[in-house]
Amino acid sequence: MGKKFDITDENREELLLGIKNHIKLPGPLMPILHEAQRIFGCIPIEVQKIVSNETGITVAEINGVVTFYSSFTLHPKGLHTIGICLGTPCYVRGSQTILDAIKTDLGIDVGENTEDDFFTLEAIRCIGTCGMAPVMSIDEDVYGEVDVTKARRLIKEARKK
Ligand code: FES
Repeated sequence: MGKKFDITDENREELLLGIKNHIKLPGPLMPILHEAQRIFGCIPIEVQKIVSNETGITVAEINGVVTFYSSFTLHPKGLHTIGICLGTPCYVRGSQTILDAIKTDLGIDVGENTEDDFFTLEAIRCIGTCGMAPVMSIDEDVYGEVDVTKARRLIKEARKK
């Protein structure tokens, strides 16, 4: 199953400390949200409300930022994250076709978890390995020269691990 989201006294304190450390600096929202993502593994409305109370920034504005940037998530991620690079070099070499096939296989859209919370699917931006485009990742592992068949095989192998 996926990682569980929970607000405890401990992680709330950690977030408050993170906010305190950044609030007086210019442009505090992004670093605060990075802290929140690290601490909770996601930034749902409950966490956004804490950030809003402490910073005076509206929940609407915070939610806009959280939903805009792919490094932030509203829900806990699945156990493993599949990333398909849609940067230009990967895109022109067919990464959209790979992404579409994986979406269909897993029955989910980008940003969603499989029903069992085993995988989260993400469209990622260039990760600096364009030389082996198209590129996909599973968690920290990066794979190059991927096509639909290879992507399916890698995902199948990840399931077995
Ligand atoms: S565009 Fe995909 S790795 Fe650079």
